[in-house]
Amino acid sequence: MNIAIVGTGYVGLVSGTCFAEMGVDVTCVDVNEQKIDSLKKGIIPIFEPGLEDMVLRNMKAKRLHFTTDLGSVLDKLEILFIAVGTPADEDGSADLSYVLQVAREVGRKMNNYLLVVTKSTVPVGTSRKVREAVEQELKNRGLDIDFDVASNPEFLKEGDAIKDFMSPDRVVVGVESEHARELMTRLYRPFLLNNFRVIFMDIPSAEMTKYAANSMLATRISFMNDIANLCEQVGADVNMVRKGIGSDARIGSKFLYPGIGYGGSCFPKDVKALLHTAAENGCRMRVLEAVEEVNYRQKEVLFRKLEKAFPEGLNGKTIAMWGLSFKPNTDDMREATSLVLINLLLEAGCNLRVYDPVAIGEAKRILKEKDNLYYASDIYDAVLNADALLLVTEWKEFRLPSWQVVKKTMRGNLILDGRNIYDKQELLSHGFRYQGIGI
Ligand SMILES: NC(=O)c1ccc[n+]([C@@H]2O[C@H](COP(=O)([O-])OP(=O)(O)OC[C@H]3O[C@@H](n4cnc5c(N)ncnc54)[C@H](O)[C@@H]3O)[C@@H](O)[C@H]2O)c1
Repeated sequence: MNIAIVGTGYVGLVSGTCFAEMGVDVTCVDVNEQKIDSLKKGIIPIFEPGLEDMVLRNMKAKRLHFTTDLGSVLDKLEILFIAVGTPADEDGSADLSYVLQVAREVGRKMNNYLLVVTKSTVPVGTSRKVREAVEQELKNRGLDIDFDVASNPEFLKEGDAIKDFMSPDRVVVGVESEHARELMTRLYRPFLLNNFRVIFMDIPSAEMTKYAANSMLATRISFMNDIANLCEQVGADVNMVRKGIGSDARIGSKFLYPGIGYGGSCFPKDVKALLHTAAENGCRMRVLEAVEEVNYRQKEVLFRKLEKAFPEGLNGKTIAMWGLSFKPNTDDMREATSLVLINLLLEAGCNLRVYDPVAIGEAKRILKEKDNLYYASDIYDAVLNADALLLVTEWKEFRLPSWQVVKKTMRGNLILDGRNIYDKQELLSHGFRYQGIGI
């Protein structure tokens, strides 16, 4: 089978590589020449565990190719995936310009049947727009070539992307023709041999499923953050509450961890986009409005705790930060809580010493060199003379530091654990002051 994935970002590169791993001939296409040149040399632009080996193996086997020239591969394809970005526009709606750009290019260059599948996260109605864009370009060329559109939202998680893609809980596919259904069944069968769970549905339902899934997960997070904040006021321990409710089969234990707000490239923009779709259709989604507002405030929670801990003011304080990426196992800093905290702390006159095992490069690219912002070389360098330490991302290497060394290296003794990964009693025994979230 010959397919192309247009857009070679987190989703495009991971899905293309995983399809190639299953024996499919895959071409990954992107407009970013630098990215494609690097990939051709085997340089992987993102950090994703296991990805580099898999890319190199499949390039060597000549099943995985990279190009900036979509036209050069179109004729041999059976399926083309659109996996370009759909960032939030200023009004919160999903920006579909990249998706439709690809659709128009396909219409301008295709010469035989093609199944055009949207994998990007897009609002209901987008596949129809993709179809119209292709049709318009074919009409401009005076051609009537048969093609289908389909929707195949992606549910992989950064940091676990390969595992998620190679053995998904389910694959959701929206189709409107039997041929499209057959092609998608053939493509996905190897992934689900033992437990074939492709859920076929109509296209609008598939498009909506992705937003509903991310919004549900975001809702659980904001709900638990609300519960955690209340636990602090009433003297309950949210870790106990989490275990207590997570063991209820009707609730389940996943996505019940309180923290310092969700970030990343998906939840914030997808919640916004769904709210926008609702507003456009005269619906108010009050739960989701609250989810967004709670999250916005939760990103400032560690800053508020610091303000309380230092009533004399934060000006001139040295604050260490462990973790910058929006979650572990990725260098992605889109909508990361660290960015909110860094801005607030710099504005308050703090000296910041930040460290992350893989996202330092990305942090420098986004934040640049700034006065009072020091990019530390390891966890102990970060805490040098610090008045307080903020644990922001729960990377494994932060879990068991030498507290004696940390204590000796810091000037102060306050630890604010934004992810509840430390044992309070242990830290108290080392002479620290400790606060988590909801405990
Ligand atoms: N990142 C995730 O964890 C994740 C998970 C599920 C779904 N999604 C969705 O998948 C989509 C892609 O997300 P991502 O994180 O991979 O984005 P990304 O920003 O990492 O990558 C997008 C890529 O598309 C390329 N591109 C833009 N216009 C193009 C064009 N006309 N032709 C070819 N390439 C073009 C860009 O150069 C970029 O390399 C989004 O809709 C996102 O919401 C993302």
